[in-house]
Amino acid sequence: MKLQIIVGSTRPGRVSDRVARWVKNEAENLNETEVEILDLQDYDLPMLDEPISPQFNPERKPNPEAQKWLDKLSEAEAYVLVTPEYNRSYSAVLKNALDYIDFQLKEKPVALVAHGSTGGAQAVAHLRGVLPGLKSFTTPSATFIVGRAGDIIDEDGNLDEELKANPYGPQAALKATLEELNWYSNALAAARSEGK
Ligand SMILES: Cc1cc2nc3c(=O)[nH]c(=O)nc-3n(C[C@H](O)[C@H](O)[C@H](O)COP(=O)(O)O)c2cc1C
Repeated sequence: MKLQIIVGSTRPGRVSDRVARWVKNEAENLNETEVEILDLQDYDLPMLDEPISPQFNPERKPNPEAQKWLDKLSEAEAYVLVTPEYNRSYSAVLKNALDYIDFQLKEKPVALVAHGSTGGAQAVAHLRGVLPGLKSFTTPSATFIVGRAGDIIDEDGNLDEELKANPYGPQAALKATLEELNWYSNALAAARSEGK
């Protein structure tokens, strides 16, 4: 599958970037998978600046940064959103980036990897309600890191060795989340190509 991992924080001192690298390292173990990290820091998206809802504007002319973001998203078949939890939800910068999307994620699956002081369950719950608005959906499993992700994942995306070996720890959860995403990605890619 062609997989993009989206870094859901642009905050100075953020840890979502190293969480994304951790996801990338694990995803590279999947067969026939191309993995790319998309960093919202690389897309200077203004707060949504369009006069008509993107999905309902046949004459749509996105600003150049938004067009760059949309063109990049179109290349993938599946996505991982790495989301922090901010004030019982996901980040505003991620919401704004999602609101620019019209049909780039249509009929494609999204897996969720959350982290936060309490693990990010509320960020995940909110994203599960939002993605269907883009004709996309989230896979059943998700991965949660409770507490300070920066204390257990290094800059290169390596998880603490003891946690990595724990069959009930985050590495095992991430592996299962990505395998499930791969299954949905393959099934949906086949259905899309058959025009089902
Ligand atoms: C504005 C703000 C609000 C936060 N609110 C929550 C919260 O409601 N629940 C939670 O579990 N963690 C919360 N946290 C902790 C973050 O999820 C945690 O610091 C995470 O690492 C932030 O991701 P980032 O470093 O990539 O930005 C909050 C952090 C910030 C900056």
